[in-house]
Amino acid sequence: MKPLVEAAIVDVCRNTRTLPCRKMVIADLGCSSGPNAVALVSIALETTRNHFLQLQQPPPEVSLLLNDLPYNDFNVVVKSLVVLRQINEPIVVAGVVPGSFYERLLPSGSVHLFCSSNSLHWLSKAPEDLRIKQIPAYDIDENVRHERLPVVAGAYTRQFRKDFTLFLKLRGKELVPDSRMVVSLAGRRSDELVTEITHVWGTTAQILGVMASECAIDKAKFDSLYIPVYAPSLKELREIIQEEGSFSITEMRVHDPASGMDSTLLTPNKIANCMRAALEPIMVQHFELSGEVMDEFARTAEST
Ligand SMILES: C[S@@+](CC[C@H](N)C(=O)[O-])C[C@H]1O[C@@H](n2cnc3c(N)ncnc32)[C@H](O)[C@@H]1O
Repeated sequence: MKPLVEAAIVDVCRNTRTLPCRKMVIADLGCSSGPNAVALVSIALETTRNHFLQLQQPPPEVSLLLNDLPYNDFNVVVKSLVVLRQINEPIVVAGVVPGSFYERLLPSGSVHLFCSSNSLHWLSKAPEDLRIKQIPAYDIDENVRHERLPVVAGAYTRQFRKDFTLFLKLRGKELVPDSRMVVSLAGRRSDELVTEITHVWGTTAQILGVMASECAIDKAKFDSLYIPVYAPSLKELREIIQEEGSFSITEMRVHDPASGMDSTLLTPNKIANCMRAALEPIMVQHFELSGEVMDEFARTAEST
């Protein structure tokens, strides 16, 4: 996302309408708590500093805000922010904004750049139609699963459309007019919905199916698990953005996360650990699992 954030910042800095009082607010949504939490805002900060250095002008006062869900480890985030603030002159305020990005987070017309990396594929909740009608997202029976796929896929599609539309509306209100937003999220290459939903669910469900057959998890609870993740296609995203109308699209890119990566790094153990990192909080809560069962999940994932 580095070049996209850099381009967005240069655009904001050049536009005298967006930066009339030389004060700038940059916010990252879904920051998490590791080193990545400050990665995007650091790029934005450095680009701002360099831009004004080239112009031989003092940089604007910068406010950095990091958002994630309230149970995120904000103690770690705050420590990273303090370090960032100590070594970067233009930061005046650095803070955290706990809350869901599917709610209002900041005052209207106050933000110059929103960034969000790898977070917006998380839905606000599991599709309600499925939960109410008790339709399992992934039936162990292959025939039933195949028959129900259009219903399951449709429910996920509608939930994503609703959530992403709301997200755009809220951020549209919070941005200074003509400012910028740069987001990345997990997506799918094809517009073919049904097979892709199968794929997203397939690997996780396969592992959980093995665990249910070994009684490591409750089968009835497996049927009521709805992982609130949806990977939209480029076409779907474009349609939603255009229909909602708060934003115009400057650039859209599809990036394969494995491209340019040393393939020897993609070991079954690494893939299993990635799945565990993403799903552990949901699974522990839903199945009331212990650490040992999650170890078993990672072991099963590694050998599947
Ligand atoms: C895979 S992490 C991405 C972290 C970081 N941005 C990165 O690129 O490495 C996804 C983050 O999105 C957060 N998230 C999910 N739903 C959210 C919501 N509704 N509001 C705010 N944060 C959310 C999660 O808590 C998690 O920290």
